[in-house]
Amino acid sequence: MRAQIVILPGDGVGPEVTAAAVTVLDAVAAHFDHSFHFDEHLIGGCAIDATGEPLPAASLEACKAADAVLLGAVGGPQWSDPNAPVRPEQGLLALRAALGVYANLRPLQVHPRLAALSPLKNEKLKNVDVLFVRELTGGAYFGAKTRTSDTAIDECKYTVAEVERVVRRAFNLARGRRKHVTSVDKANVLETSRLWRSTVQRIAAEYPDVKVEHQLVDSMAMLLLTQPSRYDVVVTENLFGDILTDEAAALAGSLGLLPSASIGEAKAGLYEPIHGSAPDIAGQGVANPIGTILSAAMLLRHSLDLEQEAAAVEAAVAEVLEHGPHTRDIGGQASTTEVLEAVLSALDEQACHAAAFLR
Ligand code: NAD
Ligand code: IPM
Ligand code: MN
Repeated sequence: MRAQIVILPGDGVGPEVTAAAVTVLDAVAAHFDHSFHFDEHLIGGCAIDATGEPLPAASLEACKAADAVLLGAVGGPQWSDPNAPVRPEQGLLALRAALGVYANLRPLQVHPRLAALSPLKNEKLKNVDVLFVRELTGGAYFGAKTRTSDTAIDECKYTVAEVERVVRRAFNLARGRRKHVTSVDKANVLETSRLWRSTVQRIAAEYPDVKVEHQLVDSMAMLLLTQPSRYDVVVTENLFGDILTDEAAALAGSLGLLPSASIGEAKAGLYEPIHGSAPDIAGQGVANPIGTILSAAMLLRHSLDLEQEAAAVEAAVAEVLEHGPHTRDIGGQASTTEVLEAVLSALDEQACHAAAFLR
C-alpha cells in the first residue's frame, strides 16, 4: 500500500525518537512491500523560533492531507516562561483539535523483564494489561482562559456529545478485550463529572455484555498502584487521563516506553509517545525510542489497517525488551541508535517468519 505520513519531530528528544521510528517504518515498508512517503514539518518551540507560531499553517495543512501523523514531543525550558505570549504546547493542542482526534488510546503493559524497575512488588505487576482511553479535545485544556493581574480562569466544559463519542469508543474497545470498563471521574465535586457519569450510565445500558464501574479519580490514583491487574479499559476526561497515564508509566518501568494513538472519526490519526521533550537528556542520543516505535506500530494498525505489520513491530520490540540492549531509563547503557539497530534486526526475523507463513 501507499501512504503519506507527516512527521512532526518537535523539540528536545522529539527528533531523536521520531528518526528511530521512521527508520522502523522504512524497514516495514521494505519487508512488506509498501510505499510510505514521509513529509517532515515544524511544530512546537522550533516552529515558534522559525515562524513565530507553534503550529504554522503549512504544518497543519500537511497533517490534514496525510494518512497519518507521527509526532515526537514539544516544549522545553527556553519556551516555558509563564508570561510568554505563545507556547509550544498550544501547537499540539491546536493540532489535536483540528484533526478532531478526541480519543487518545494509551495502552499499558508491563514486560516481565522490566518488572524489577517498577517501585511495586513484582507479583502486583503480573497480568497488567490496561487500555486508557483519554478524552483529548475537551475539558480544562480547551475551555475559555482568562488572566488578569490577580486572577486566572481555565473553564472546564464538556457537552454530552463529547462524552458520548469517547465513551462509546471505550465500550467498543472493551468488547474486543476483557469486557470491563472503568470510568474515572470526580462526580462528588465537579458538575462536568456528573454529566460524564450520567452519560456513561446511559451508554452502559447499550452494552449489557460489558461490566462497568465508576471510580473517583483520587482513589483511582491509589488503586492503579495497588491493584493494577484489575483494570481493562479505563476511560476518563482529558486532564485526569494525562495524569493517570504518566503514573501508569511508572508501572511499565519508564515514561519512555508508552505509546499512544489519537483517533477521531477520520481514518487519519495522530501518533505520539506519551512522554515529553525530556530536556534533561535531549541531544545526548540516549532517549528511549520504544514509546515512539510502538506509536508507529499503532499508526500501522489504526490508520493503515496493517495489523500484521503492527504485530511484527511489537514482537520485535518485545524481543529487544527481553534480551536488550536497553537505554539508561530502563537500567541499560545503550544509545538510542543501538536500541534501534536491535529492533531492526529483530524485525528482520519477524518479517522472515511472516514471509514463510504467507508462502
Ligand atoms: P518529560 O516526559 O519530558 O520528562 C520526564 C522525565 O522522563 C525526564 O526525566 C525525562 O528524561 C524522562 N523521559 C521522558 N521521555 C524519555 C525517553 N524517551 N527516554 C528516556 N527518558 C525519558 O516531562 P517534563 O519534564 O514534565 O516536560 C518537559 C517538556 O515536555 C515540557 O515542556 C512539557 O510541556 C513537554 N511535554 C510534551 C509532551 C508532548 O509533546 N506530547 C508530553 C509531555 C510533556
Ligand atoms: C501529553 C502532554 C500534553 C498534554 C501537553 C504537552 C500539552 O502532557 O501528551 O500527555 O497534556 O496532553
Ligand atoms: Mn502528559
